Amino acid sequence: MCGIVAYVGARPALPLLVEGLRRLEYRGYDSAGLAIAEGGTLAVHKRKGKVRELESTLPAQVPGSVGVAHTRWATHGEPSDLNAHPHTDAAGRIGVVHNGIIENAAELRRRLEGEGVVFRSQTDTEVLAHLIGRRPESSLVEAVCAALALVKGAYGLAVIDADRPGAIIAARNGGPVVIGVGDDEMFVASDAVALMGHARSVAHLDDGEVAEVRADGFTVMTLEGAETFKALQALEGDAGGLDKGDFSHFMRKEIAEQPEAVRRTLLGRLDHRFQTAHLGGIELAAREMLDIRRVKILGCGSAFYAGVVGAHLIEQLARIPAQAEPAAEFRYRNPVVEQDTLYVAVSQSGETFDTLAAIQEVKRKGGRVLGVINAIGSTIARECGRGVYLHAGPEVAVVSTKTFTSTVVAFCLLALQLGRVRDLSSAHGQRLLAGLSLLPDQIQSIVDREAELAPIAARLAASEHAYFLGRTVSHAIAMEGALKLKEISYLHAEAYAASELKHGPLALITPHTPVLIVAPDDDLLAKNRSTIAEVRTRQGPVLAVTQDGVDLEDVEASFAVPRCEPELAPLLLNIPLQLLAYQVASALGRDIDQPRNLAKSVTVE
Ligand code: F6R
Repeated sequence: MCGIVAYVGARPALPLLVEGLRRLEYRGYDSAGLAIAEGGTLAVHKRKGKVRELESTLPAQVPGSVGVAHTRWATHGEPSDLNAHPHTDAAGRIGVVHNGIIENAAELRRRLEGEGVVFRSQTDTEVLAHLIGRRPESSLVEAVCAALALVKGAYGLAVIDADRPGAIIAARNGGPVVIGVGDDEMFVASDAVALMGHARSVAHLDDGEVAEVRADGFTVMTLEGAETFKALQALEGDAGGLDKGDFSHFMRKEIAEQPEAVRRTLLGRLDHRFQTAHLGGIELAAREMLDIRRVKILGCGSAFYAGVVGAHLIEQLARIPAQAEPAAEFRYRNPVVEQDTLYVAVSQSGETFDTLAAIQEVKRKGGRVLGVINAIGSTIARECGRGVYLHAGPEVAVVSTKTFTSTVVAFCLLALQLGRVRDLSSAHGQRLLAGLSLLPDQIQSIVDREAELAPIAARLAASEHAYFLGRTVSHAIAMEGALKLKEISYLHAEAYAASELKHGPLALITPHTPVLIVAPDDDLLAKNRSTIAEVRTRQGPVLAVTQDGVDLEDVEASFAVPRCEPELAPLLLNIPLQLLAYQVASALGRDIDQPRNLAKSVTVE
């Protein structure tokens, strides 16, 4: 949450900062601002609203080659011009941008006010600016370290000083910070996507580290002043992926990118010789895999739902008891961590605070955790140390689409690999490999038929409430479909296990509550037909997502996905639900890529 970008070099900072803000806007979009140091003064521009509102007020040029910028997701203080970052000290010379929460801000604020400091905003961050500004005689890095010694809480921050303009000071405790190395220029950002096309390589700060970043290099030390060594990683990725191209929204582009994303997730991981998958990054020998007695999958939101599908796959294919749990619920219930349980953390961004904290809880209790992650080099990837990268490419829309699909594909591979060291036959393994190879074209064929979803979308868009039903693994798809719809259309969409309908939710069914049922051609189809009849008896309109060859009676509108290996059906059934959410949100004129109140990377508790 909150995007930070900073630059020091020889080029004008303004266009680089604005470009970085545009790329980071998915992290928060209720206000934006920047500060550029030049000739002993700090030019600060900030504005409530999106980056484009800030841009509309910026002068054509702001002189200066060192600056910090920020796009905000408000925690302390409502979104407003004054609460937007950067925040400055009383003299207006120190500029601070911050991602995170200073927990003792109220206490520090009272203390500073007692000393005569006048605050201009309601934010916790302004406290930091004043604390740093109290030490004009020290070096900037010393002033930042002294201020941070007084602070409790989480931060990723970048600081500049008009009086000491040669460096940016960056620091991290819980909020991601990456340093980007260019040619005689350096960057700081909360996500490497801001730096693609500019930095050649990156270094990730760890918690408790502070960096002095100059145009010609950088030094990293602990808050106590001990220098630390940082390995550089090449910054891979194509800045073109950050462009919407011909699509009207990133979400729609990312839905369309799924065939390619799945190909990349599968690349080099299908082992036709032994009819298995090969996930080298999990670093588990066959004997270690045999010793696994249980699998526990942790994640939040869509990552959790992908984990529910993953748990089902592992249980079915490897016959290992497996379960997914929301990461925050897990960490707060003092969980029993078992030696022979494999813990798997799922995160697209690799920065979700609750997931990270759950991993740390497992590790603290001696457990081992694999990551299933999209963002390379992210905090969770580094915390886990081993796992599976999705290689789905950057996901810019706030809601996840292609990374949900790639995560489920990664779980298919993990389940296949675990299954093949156990009782899964080579014939079954071969069938799954063949089925996985067909997925990209099958997904493409669904995306190409988007127009056929219009009647279902129209019915949903005309209703205030919708219910999504499914059984067993299709319940997870119903939950993901309902989440997607509510996130971007703001309609009330609720998912239930179809088997639970008559135990309560049936009371809600009326002619005005469409029920969307996820009904593949599996052993439970007859039960789903009964559910449809129960809803119809109460005059509830039924919409269905099913598979080719299934004929459902008394359904107002339906969409069929191609037939596939039964284990892979959830992947295909989910694609129409993504497209439906998109169509409904478009019809209602919503801000699809940046829905209200949300941000992509939830780095606060
Ligand atoms: C839903 C969505 C969120 C995220 C969740 C976890 O569309 O995007 O529910 O899935 O915040 O995020 P990551 O995967 O980055 O840990």
